[in-house]
Amino acid sequence: MDFETAVGSLFQPEGRIDPYPAYDVLRSHAAAFPGMENQWWVTSHALVSRLLRDPGLRVADKSDYDRSWPDWRQNRGVASVVLSMLQTNPPDHSRVRRAAAATFTARRVAAMREVITAQVDELIDELPAETDFVGSFAYPLPIAVICALLGIPESERRWFRQRAADLTVVLEPISSEEEMVRADKAGRELEAYLTGLIADRRNTPREDLTSALVAAADDDQVLTGEELLANLVLLLVAGFETTTNLLGTGLEILLKHPREADRLRSDAEFAPAVVEEILRYDSPVQLTSRFTTTPLDLGDGRHLDVGTMLTMLLGSANRDPDRYPDPHRFDPDRPNIQPVSFGGGAHYCLGAPLARLEAQVAFPRLLSRLPRLALSGEPVRRDRLVLRGYASLPITTGA
Ligand code: HEM
Repeated sequence: MDFETAVGSLFQPEGRIDPYPAYDVLRSHAAAFPGMENQWWVTSHALVSRLLRDPGLRVADKSDYDRSWPDWRQNRGVASVVLSMLQTNPPDHSRVRRAAAATFTARRVAAMREVITAQVDELIDELPAETDFVGSFAYPLPIAVICALLGIPESERRWFRQRAADLTVVLEPISSEEEMVRADKAGRELEAYLTGLIADRRNTPREDLTSALVAAADDDQVLTGEELLANLVLLLVAGFETTTNLLGTGLEILLKHPREADRLRSDAEFAPAVVEEILRYDSPVQLTSRFTTTPLDLGDGRHLDVGTMLTMLLGSANRDPDRYPDPHRFDPDRPNIQPVSFGGGAHYCLGAPLARLEAQVAFPRLLSRLPRLALSGEPVRRDRLVLRGYASLPITTGA
Protein backbone atom coordinates (compact mmCIF):
# COMPACT_ATOMS: atom_id res chain seq x y z
CA MET A 1 0.00 0.00 0.00
CA ASP A 2 1.43 3.42 -0.88
CA PHE A 3 1.27 6.46 1.37
CA GLU A 4 -1.63 8.24 -0.42
CA THR A 5 -3.74 5.05 -0.40
CA ALA A 6 -3.01 4.59 3.32
CA VAL A 7 -4.25 8.08 4.23
CA GLY A 8 -7.31 7.70 2.00
CA SER A 9 -8.19 4.29 3.45
CA LEU A 10 -8.85 5.79 6.91
CA PHE A 11 -11.76 7.65 5.35
CA GLN A 12 -13.19 4.54 3.66
CA PRO A 13 -15.42 1.97 5.40
CA GLU A 14 -13.21 -0.93 4.16
CA GLY A 15 -10.05 0.77 5.42
CA ARG A 16 -11.56 1.35 8.82
CA ILE A 17 -12.36 -2.36 9.28
CA ASP A 18 -8.62 -2.96 9.69
CA PRO A 19 -6.68 0.32 9.86
CA TYR A 20 -3.45 -1.30 11.10
CA PRO A 21 -1.78 -1.94 7.69
CA ALA A 22 -2.42 1.73 6.83
CA TYR A 23 -1.00 2.86 10.18
CA ASP A 24 2.19 0.85 9.46
CA VAL A 25 2.62 2.65 6.12
CA LEU A 26 2.00 6.08 7.67
CA ARG A 27 4.31 5.47 10.66
CA SER A 28 7.11 4.23 8.36
CA HIS A 29 6.65 7.40 6.32
CA ALA A 30 7.08 9.71 9.35
CA ALA A 31 6.32 10.17 13.05
CA ALA A 32 4.41 13.30 11.97
CA PHE A 33 3.38 14.52 8.51
CA PRO A 34 1.02 17.15 7.07
CA GLY A 35 -2.54 16.26 6.07
CA MET A 36 -5.30 18.63 5.03
CA GLU A 37 -4.86 22.42 5.24
CA ASN A 38 -3.41 23.25 8.64
CA GLN A 39 -3.62 19.72 10.02
CA TRP A 40 -0.87 17.14 10.80
CA TRP A 41 -1.02 13.43 11.59
CA VAL A 42 1.04 11.99 14.45
CA THR A 43 1.80 8.27 14.26
CA SER A 44 4.65 7.22 16.57
CA HIS A 45 4.32 6.17 20.20
CA ALA A 46 7.13 8.48 21.32
CA LEU A 47 5.67 11.59 19.68
CA VAL A 48 2.02 10.87 20.59
CA SER A 49 3.01 10.30 24.25
CA ARG A 50 5.12 13.43 24.34
CA LEU A 51 2.53 15.69 22.66
CA LEU A 52 -0.39 14.49 24.81
CA ARG A 53 1.56 15.83 27.81
CA ASP A 54 2.76 19.06 26.14
CA PRO A 55 1.28 22.11 27.91
CA GLY A 56 1.72 24.10 24.69
CA LEU A 57 -1.11 22.12 23.10
CA ARG A 58 -4.80 22.58 23.74
CA VAL A 59 -8.09 20.94 22.87
CA ALA A 60 -10.70 22.60 20.64
CA ASP A 61 -13.02 24.44 23.04
CA LYS A 62 -16.11 26.63 22.93
CA SER A 63 -14.14 29.64 21.66
CA ASP A 64 -13.20 27.66 18.55
CA TYR A 65 -16.81 26.55 18.05
CA ASP A 66 -18.02 30.16 18.49
CA ARG A 67 -15.75 31.14 15.60
CA SER A 68 -16.32 28.24 13.22
CA TRP A 69 -19.96 27.35 13.96
CA PRO A 70 -21.81 30.19 15.74
CA ASP A 71 -24.95 28.02 16.15
CA TRP A 72 -23.25 25.06 17.82
CA ARG A 73 -25.24 25.44 21.04
CA GLN A 74 -28.42 24.69 19.08
CA ASN A 75 -27.30 21.07 18.72
CA ARG A 76 -27.56 19.84 22.31
CA GLY A 77 -25.57 16.67 21.54
CA VAL A 78 -22.62 18.77 20.36
CA ALA A 79 -23.16 21.32 23.16
CA SER A 80 -23.02 18.78 25.95
CA VAL A 81 -19.65 17.49 24.76
CA VAL A 82 -18.19 20.93 23.96
CA LEU A 83 -19.20 22.27 27.39
CA SER A 84 -17.70 19.25 29.20
CA MET A 85 -14.14 18.98 30.52
CA LEU A 86 -13.15 16.93 27.45
CA GLN A 87 -13.25 20.13 25.38
CA THR A 88 -12.17 22.67 27.99
CA ASN A 89 -8.72 24.20 28.50
CA PRO A 90 -6.95 25.58 31.58
CA PRO A 91 -7.73 27.33 33.82
CA ASP A 92 -11.35 26.09 33.54
CA HIS A 93 -10.28 22.53 32.78
CA SER A 94 -8.11 22.28 35.89
CA ARG A 95 -10.95 23.54 38.10
CA VAL A 96 -13.63 21.25 36.64
CA ARG A 97 -11.34 18.23 36.46
CA ARG A 98 -10.27 18.71 40.11
CA ALA A 99 -13.90 18.78 41.25
CA ALA A 100 -14.80 15.69 39.20
CA ALA A 101 -11.69 13.77 40.28
CA ALA A 102 -12.38 14.56 43.95
CA THR A 103 -15.77 12.86 43.67
CA PHE A 104 -14.93 10.07 41.19
CA THR A 105 -12.26 8.66 43.49
CA ALA A 106 -10.28 5.40 43.46
CA ARG A 107 -12.24 4.39 46.58
CA ARG A 108 -15.58 4.95 44.86
CA VAL A 109 -14.42 2.89 41.88
CA ALA A 110 -12.98 0.07 44.02
CA ALA A 111 -16.30 -0.06 45.90
CA MET A 112 -17.98 -0.87 42.56
CA ARG A 113 -16.29 -4.30 42.32
CA GLU A 114 -19.19 -6.06 44.04
CA VAL A 115 -21.82 -4.31 41.93
CA ILE A 116 -19.86 -5.15 38.77
CA THR A 117 -19.40 -8.80 39.77
CA ALA A 118 -23.11 -9.18 40.58
CA GLN A 119 -24.06 -7.54 37.29
CA VAL A 120 -21.65 -9.73 35.31
CA ASP A 121 -23.11 -12.86 36.93
CA GLU A 122 -26.66 -11.75 36.28
CA LEU A 123 -25.89 -11.04 32.61
CA ILE A 124 -24.15 -14.42 32.22
CA ASP A 125 -27.18 -16.17 33.82
CA GLU A 126 -29.47 -14.47 31.31
CA LEU A 127 -27.35 -15.04 28.16
CA PRO A 128 -29.33 -17.04 25.56
CA ALA A 129 -27.46 -20.09 24.20
CA GLU A 130 -27.06 -18.32 20.82
CA THR A 131 -26.75 -14.59 21.05
CA ASP A 132 -25.06 -11.38 20.02
CA PHE A 133 -22.50 -10.66 22.74
CA VAL A 134 -22.54 -6.92 22.06
CA GLY A 135 -26.30 -6.57 22.56
CA SER A 136 -26.65 -8.97 25.45
CA PHE A 137 -23.48 -8.27 27.46
CA ALA A 138 -21.06 -5.61 26.18
CA TYR A 139 -23.76 -2.90 26.01
CA PRO A 140 -25.76 -3.67 29.18
CA LEU A 141 -22.77 -4.03 31.55
CA PRO A 142 -21.20 -0.54 31.27
CA ILE A 143 -24.57 1.18 31.20
CA ALA A 144 -25.68 -0.69 34.33
CA VAL A 145 -22.41 0.20 36.07
CA ILE A 146 -22.42 3.91 35.18
CA CYS A 147 -26.14 4.17 36.02
CA ALA A 148 -25.49 2.50 39.41
CA LEU A 149 -22.60 4.90 40.02
CA LEU A 150 -24.66 7.98 39.15
CA GLY A 151 -27.76 6.72 40.99
CA ILE A 152 -29.97 6.24 37.92
CA PRO A 153 -32.63 3.56 38.54
CA GLU A 154 -32.53 0.23 36.73
CA SER A 155 -35.79 0.91 34.89
CA GLU A 156 -34.15 3.83 33.02
CA ARG A 157 -31.15 1.92 31.64
CA ARG A 158 -32.58 0.87 28.30
CA TRP A 159 -33.66 4.43 27.68
CA PHE A 160 -30.15 5.69 28.45
CA ARG A 161 -28.49 3.14 26.27
CA GLN A 162 -30.14 4.43 23.07
CA ARG A 163 -29.62 8.11 23.97
CA ALA A 164 -25.94 7.57 24.80
CA ALA A 165 -25.36 5.63 21.56
CA ASP A 166 -27.04 8.40 19.51
CA LEU A 167 -24.96 11.09 21.19
CA THR A 168 -21.49 9.61 20.63
CA VAL A 169 -21.54 10.31 16.87
CA VAL A 170 -20.53 13.87 17.75
CA LEU A 171 -17.08 12.48 18.64
CA GLU A 172 -16.56 11.42 15.01
CA PRO A 173 -14.94 13.88 12.57
CA ILE A 174 -17.65 13.24 9.96
CA SER A 175 -21.32 12.52 10.75
CA SER A 176 -24.39 12.56 8.52
CA GLU A 177 -27.14 15.17 8.84
CA GLU A 178 -29.48 12.49 10.16
CA GLU A 179 -26.96 11.40 12.83
CA MET A 180 -26.55 15.00 13.96
CA VAL A 181 -30.34 15.38 14.31
CA ARG A 182 -30.45 12.22 16.43
CA ALA A 183 -27.51 13.46 18.54
CA ASP A 184 -29.35 16.75 19.16
CA LYS A 185 -32.50 14.92 20.24
CA ALA A 186 -30.52 12.58 22.51
CA GLY A 187 -28.68 15.57 24.02
CA ARG A 188 -31.97 17.36 24.78
CA GLU A 189 -33.52 14.28 26.35
CA LEU A 190 -30.45 13.48 28.46
CA GLU A 191 -30.20 17.10 29.61
CA ALA A 192 -33.89 17.12 30.60
CA TYR A 193 -33.53 13.88 32.56
CA LEU A 194 -30.30 14.87 34.30
CA THR A 195 -31.67 18.33 35.17
CA GLY A 196 -34.41 16.49 37.07
CA LEU A 197 -31.88 14.18 38.72
CA ILE A 198 -29.71 17.14 39.81
CA ALA A 199 -32.75 18.89 41.34
CA ASP A 200 -33.72 15.70 43.14
CA ARG A 201 -30.22 15.16 44.62
CA ARG A 202 -30.00 18.82 45.60
CA ASN A 203 -33.14 18.26 47.73
CA THR A 204 -32.37 14.74 48.88
CA PRO A 205 -28.67 13.82 48.61
CA ARG A 206 -27.80 10.13 48.40
CA GLU A 207 -24.56 8.14 48.37
CA ASP A 208 -24.19 8.37 44.58
CA LEU A 209 -21.74 10.23 42.36
CA THR A 210 -24.44 12.65 41.16
CA SER A 211 -25.07 13.81 44.75
CA ALA A 212 -21.31 14.18 45.31
CA LEU A 213 -20.92 16.26 42.14
CA VAL A 214 -23.93 18.42 42.98
CA ALA A 215 -22.50 19.04 46.47
CA ALA A 216 -19.07 19.89 45.03
CA ALA A 217 -20.66 22.26 42.53
CA ASP A 218 -22.88 23.99 45.10
CA ASP A 219 -20.66 24.10 48.19
CA ASP A 220 -17.88 26.23 46.79
CA GLN A 221 -19.58 27.35 43.59
CA VAL A 222 -16.87 25.34 41.85
CA LEU A 223 -18.95 24.38 38.83
CA THR A 224 -21.58 26.39 37.00
CA GLY A 225 -24.95 24.72 36.42
CA GLU A 226 -24.05 24.39 32.75
CA GLU A 227 -20.74 22.68 33.57
CA LEU A 228 -22.37 20.31 36.05
CA LEU A 229 -24.94 19.19 33.50
CA ALA A 230 -22.48 18.83 30.61
CA ASN A 231 -20.06 16.79 32.71
CA LEU A 232 -22.80 14.48 33.93
CA VAL A 233 -23.77 13.86 30.31
CA LEU A 234 -20.08 13.26 29.52
CA LEU A 235 -19.71 10.71 32.32
CA LEU A 236 -22.70 8.83 30.99
CA VAL A 237 -21.63 8.73 27.38
CA ALA A 238 -17.82 8.64 27.70
CA GLY A 239 -18.00 5.67 30.01
CA PHE A 240 -20.38 3.67 27.99
CA GLU A 241 -19.65 3.02 24.34
CA THR A 242 -15.87 2.98 24.92
CA THR A 243 -16.18 0.25 27.54
CA THR A 244 -18.69 -1.65 25.36
CA ASN A 245 -16.04 -1.68 22.66
CA LEU A 246 -13.34 -2.88 25.07
CA LEU A 247 -15.59 -5.80 26.13
CA GLY A 248 -16.62 -6.78 22.60
CA THR A 249 -13.15 -6.45 21.09
CA GLY A 250 -11.57 -8.15 24.10
CA LEU A 251 -13.82 -11.20 23.97
CA GLU A 252 -13.18 -11.64 20.25
CA ILE A 253 -9.42 -11.44 20.79
CA LEU A 254 -9.53 -13.94 23.66
CA LEU A 255 -11.62 -16.42 21.69
CA LYS A 256 -8.98 -16.24 18.95
CA HIS A 257 -6.18 -16.75 21.52
CA PRO A 258 -7.23 -19.92 23.36
CA ARG A 259 -3.92 -20.28 25.26
CA GLU A 260 -4.35 -16.87 26.92
CA ALA A 261 -8.08 -17.56 27.48
CA ASP A 262 -7.22 -20.85 29.23
CA ARG A 263 -4.69 -19.17 31.45
CA LEU A 264 -7.25 -16.51 32.38
CA ARG A 265 -9.81 -19.23 33.26
CA SER A 266 -7.54 -20.65 35.93
CA ASP A 267 -5.72 -17.46 36.98
CA ALA A 268 -7.79 -14.28 37.49
CA GLU A 269 -4.52 -12.51 38.50
CA PHE A 270 -3.61 -12.61 34.80
CA ALA A 271 -6.58 -10.29 34.05
CA PRO A 272 -4.87 -6.87 34.46
CA ALA A 273 -2.11 -7.78 31.95
CA VAL A 274 -4.66 -9.25 29.52
CA VAL A 275 -6.83 -6.13 29.69
CA GLU A 276 -3.83 -3.81 29.11
CA GLU A 277 -2.78 -5.84 26.09
CA ILE A 278 -6.35 -5.81 24.69
CA LEU A 279 -6.35 -2.02 25.09
CA ARG A 280 -3.02 -1.81 23.25
CA TYR A 281 -3.83 -4.35 20.56
CA ASP A 282 -7.14 -2.80 19.50
CA SER A 283 -7.76 0.53 21.19
CA PRO A 284 -11.45 1.45 21.70
CA VAL A 285 -10.51 5.10 21.02
CA GLN A 286 -8.37 5.38 17.89
CA LEU A 287 -7.53 9.06 17.78
CA THR A 288 -7.74 12.43 19.49
CA SER A 289 -6.82 15.96 18.42
CA ARG A 290 -4.96 18.97 19.77
CA PHE A 291 -4.01 22.47 18.56
CA THR A 292 -0.66 24.20 18.99
CA THR A 293 -0.70 27.43 21.04
CA THR A 294 3.03 28.07 20.63
CA PRO A 295 5.38 27.14 17.75
CA LEU A 296 6.01 23.40 18.15
CA ASP A 297 9.42 21.76 17.79
CA LEU A 298 8.86 18.22 16.50
CA GLY A 299 12.34 17.27 17.65
CA ASP A 300 13.61 16.44 14.14
CA GLY A 301 14.40 19.94 12.89
CA ARG A 302 10.81 20.64 11.83
CA HIS A 303 8.62 23.28 13.49
CA LEU A 304 4.84 23.72 13.35
CA ASP A 305 3.06 27.09 13.37
CA VAL A 306 0.67 28.22 16.08
CA GLY A 307 -2.87 26.98 15.37
CA THR A 308 -1.84 23.71 13.70
CA MET A 309 -4.22 20.84 14.38
CA LEU A 310 -2.58 17.56 15.38
CA THR A 311 -4.48 14.32 14.87
CA MET A 312 -2.87 11.81 17.21
CA LEU A 313 -3.36 8.23 16.03
CA LEU A 314 -3.53 6.37 19.35
CA GLY A 315 -4.17 3.09 17.51
CA SER A 316 -0.97 3.57 15.50
CA ALA A 317 1.11 4.54 18.55
CA ASN A 318 -0.01 1.34 20.26
CA ARG A 319 1.35 -0.75 17.36
CA ASP A 320 4.65 1.12 17.01
CA PRO A 321 7.46 -1.47 16.67
CA ASP A 322 9.96 0.98 18.24
CA ARG A 323 7.96 0.74 21.47
CA TYR A 324 6.40 -2.74 21.16
CA PRO A 325 8.53 -5.45 19.51
CA ASP A 326 6.42 -7.66 17.20
CA PRO A 327 3.54 -5.21 17.67
CA HIS A 328 0.89 -7.16 15.75
CA ARG A 329 1.19 -10.12 18.14
CA PHE A 330 -1.25 -10.30 21.07
CA ASP A 331 1.04 -10.91 24.04
CA PRO A 332 -0.12 -10.02 27.58
CA ASP A 333 3.35 -11.00 28.88
CA ARG A 334 4.92 -7.93 27.29
CA PRO A 335 6.68 -5.90 29.97
CA ASN A 336 5.42 -2.44 30.81
CA ILE A 337 2.53 -2.35 28.30
CA GLN A 338 1.10 1.12 29.15
CA PRO A 339 -0.81 1.80 25.93
CA VAL A 340 -1.94 5.33 25.06
CA SER A 341 -5.56 4.13 24.75
CA PHE A 342 -6.72 6.32 27.65
CA GLY A 343 -4.80 9.34 26.34
CA GLY A 344 -2.23 11.08 28.53
CA GLY A 345 -1.54 14.35 30.31
CA ALA A 346 -4.25 16.68 31.62
CA HIS A 347 -7.12 14.96 29.80
CA TYR A 348 -6.06 11.41 30.72
CA CYS A 349 -9.28 9.37 30.95
CA LEU A 350 -10.99 9.96 34.26
CA GLY A 351 -12.83 6.65 33.97
CA ALA A 352 -9.79 4.45 33.18
CA PRO A 353 -9.84 2.65 36.58
CA LEU A 354 -13.55 1.90 36.18
CA ALA A 355 -13.23 0.63 32.60
CA ARG A 356 -10.26 -1.55 33.59
CA LEU A 357 -12.14 -2.97 36.57
CA GLU A 358 -15.19 -3.89 34.49
CA ALA A 359 -13.05 -5.75 31.96
CA GLN A 360 -10.86 -7.38 34.63
CA VAL A 361 -13.96 -8.77 36.35
CA ALA A 362 -15.90 -9.67 33.18
CA PHE A 363 -13.37 -11.72 31.16
CA PRO A 364 -12.26 -14.28 33.79
CA ARG A 365 -15.90 -14.84 34.86
CA LEU A 366 -17.21 -15.19 31.32
CA LEU A 367 -14.48 -17.68 30.40
CA SER A 368 -14.59 -19.75 33.58
CA ARG A 369 -18.39 -19.87 33.88
CA LEU A 370 -18.83 -20.57 30.16
CA PRO A 371 -15.85 -22.80 29.25
CA ARG A 372 -17.33 -23.68 25.83
CA LEU A 373 -18.10 -20.08 24.87
CA ALA A 374 -17.30 -19.70 21.14
CA LEU A 375 -17.82 -17.41 18.15
CA SER A 376 -20.74 -18.62 16.05
CA GLY A 377 -20.62 -16.33 13.04
CA GLU A 378 -18.86 -13.39 11.44
CA PRO A 379 -18.45 -10.40 13.78
CA VAL A 380 -19.52 -7.06 12.26
CA ARG A 381 -17.41 -3.95 12.87
CA ARG A 382 -18.99 -0.60 13.66
CA ASP A 383 -18.15 1.82 10.87
CA ARG A 384 -16.50 4.46 13.01
CA LEU A 385 -13.05 6.03 12.80
CA VAL A 386 -12.70 7.24 16.40
CA LEU A 387 -14.65 4.76 18.55
CA ARG A 388 -13.55 1.32 17.34
CA GLY A 389 -15.48 -1.82 18.20
CA TYR A 390 -18.03 -4.40 17.07
CA ALA A 391 -21.65 -3.71 16.13
CA SER A 392 -22.35 -7.42 16.64
CA LEU A 393 -20.41 -10.46 17.82
CA PRO A 394 -22.39 -13.69 17.42
CA ILE A 395 -21.57 -16.31 20.08
CA THR A 396 -22.76 -19.65 21.40
CA THR A 397 -22.41 -19.98 25.14
CA GLY A 398 -22.10 -23.78 25.07
CA ALA A 399 -24.22 -23.87 28.23
C1 HEM B 1 -11.22 11.03 28.49
C2 HEM B 1 -10.64 6.65 26.50
C3 HEM B 1 -13.85 4.77 29.62
C4 HEM B 1 -14.70 9.20 31.34
C5 HEM B 1 -10.76 9.98 27.72
C6 HEM B 1 -9.70 10.09 26.75
C7 HEM B 1 -9.56 8.87 26.18
C8 HEM B 1 -10.51 7.98 26.80
C9 HEM B 1 -8.58 8.50 25.06
C10 HEM B 1 -8.86 11.35 26.46
C11 HEM B 1 -9.32 12.09 25.26
C12 HEM B 1 -8.36 13.20 24.90
O1 HEM B 1 -7.26 13.30 25.45
O2 HEM B 1 -8.70 13.99 24.02
C13 HEM B 1 -11.47 5.77 27.18
C14 HEM B 1 -11.52 4.35 26.93
C15 HEM B 1 -12.42 3.81 27.81
C16 HEM B 1 -12.94 4.91 28.60
C17 HEM B 1 -10.68 3.61 25.88
C18 HEM B 1 -12.87 2.40 28.00
C19 HEM B 1 -12.20 1.35 27.62
C20 HEM B 1 -14.32 5.80 30.41
C21 HEM B 1 -15.23 5.66 31.51
C22 HEM B 1 -15.50 6.92 31.97
C23 HEM B 1 -14.72 7.84 31.16
C24 HEM B 1 -15.75 4.33 32.05
C25 HEM B 1 -16.38 7.39 33.08
C26 HEM B 1 -17.29 6.74 33.67
C27 HEM B 1 -13.84 10.06 30.70
C28 HEM B 1 -13.80 11.48 30.97
C29 HEM B 1 -12.80 12.01 30.14
C30 HEM B 1 -12.25 10.90 29.39
C31 HEM B 1 -14.66 12.25 31.96
C32 HEM B 1 -12.39 13.49 30.02
C33 HEM B 1 -11.20 13.79 30.89
C34 HEM B 1 -10.71 15.21 30.72
O3 HEM B 1 -10.98 15.83 29.69
O4 HEM B 1 -10.04 15.69 31.64
N1 HEM B 1 -11.21 8.68 27.76
N2 HEM B 1 -12.35 6.08 28.18
N3 HEM B 1 -14.03 7.14 30.23
N4 HEM B 1 -12.90 9.74 29.75
FE1 HEM B 1 -12.56 7.90 29.06
